[in-house]
Amino acid sequence: MNRKPIYVTQPSLAPLDEYIKLLEGVWERGILTHNGPLVQQFEKDLCRKLDVSNFVAVSNGTIALQMAIKALELKGEIITSPFTWIATISAIKWEGCTPVFCDIDPETLNIDPDKIEALITQKTVAIMPVHVFGNACDVASIEAIAKKYNLKIIYDAAHAIGSTYNGKSLLEYGDISATSLHATKLLNTAEGGGCITTNKYLQEKLKRIRFFGHNDSKDVVEDGFNGKMTEVHAALGIANLKYYDEVLNDRKEKYRKYKNYLSNIAGIKFQKIKHGEPNCSYFPVIFESEEKLFAADEEFNKNQIFPRRYFYPSVNTYTKITSYKETSVSENISRRILCLPLYWDLTEEELIRTTKILKTIA
Ligand SMILES: Cc1ncc(COP(=O)(O)O)c(C=O)c1O
Repeated sequence: MNRKPIYVTQPSLAPLDEYIKLLEGVWERGILTHNGPLVQQFEKDLCRKLDVSNFVAVSNGTIALQMAIKALELKGEIITSPFTWIATISAIKWEGCTPVFCDIDPETLNIDPDKIEALITQKTVAIMPVHVFGNACDVASIEAIAKKYNLKIIYDAAHAIGSTYNGKSLLEYGDISATSLHATKLLNTAEGGGCITTNKYLQEKLKRIRFFGHNDSKDVVEDGFNGKMTEVHAALGIANLKYYDEVLNDRKEKYRKYKNYLSNIAGIKFQKIKHGEPNCSYFPVIFESEEKLFAADEEFNKNQIFPRRYFYPSVNTYTKITSYKETSVSENISRRILCLPLYWDLTEEELIRTTKILKTIA
């Protein structure tokens, strides 16, 4: 049977006519960027929806991470996770800091707080943990370490819109959280991102950094750059935000179904949720061996299903990472992990078909 391919993800998109309606306003006003009315509306709507005190919308999640480092004026070593997308590391390097890799917890896949203190040196200025697949880090332990050593915390919250910790948005933790609104994320603006902080002074500083470092009197008072979100992207964000609750609930429902269907397969493990409530935006499975993963991937591909090795490889093993330091758990997990298709348009039949294939292999 000739079936349509099933990819690991597909963007959640509002009806096109609703997006076009917003674009008509953009055309009428002739304002395309520069903190325009739709960017401001998007920021406000998002704060209300996520119940966060502020959201500084920017052009992508990588820039959001760089802006967070700039706003905190960090220079030195930043302890981070090797089980992440390369953007976490490139942001640190572009800002002239040095990434120091701390291995992960094999169950939560997040930075292992018990391994952080041994990596702290005179040069350490911050910890940048990643809420991997929207699963909250051990925020309390990380905060305690940061307090003890007077370190800043920037959360790479690229995956974390919709996740909560202690009953409030996970984005409200750390000195600054940086999130992504990339096409693959639960909420998307095609490309986009944002910085979230409860500190009013940092909020204003982030806005200046986003706009070339200018203040209201046109002086340049920060080391800024162009981090602005456009009106065209904000319009998509506003349109998509209307469907945010439905999309979030749909992910949670499909995540639950995957878990139910796959619960009695001995050969696979799931990411463990130890803190907070995740947004369920990804469904990773961990195989016993890389060979098993290859076998499953081959069988999936034969059936036009394309899950994704994510994150692979462990970023500390890339050529451009100049000082390789082993992180055995991250390296091992990254060889054995596969994210299954999970998105709004994925049908029940497609989800069940995916689980059946996995059952024949794992
Ligand atoms: C963990 C992590 N951090 C940062 C980013 C960068 O976000 P963006 O693609 O919006 O620049 C990503 C992107 O997927 C990511 O997965």
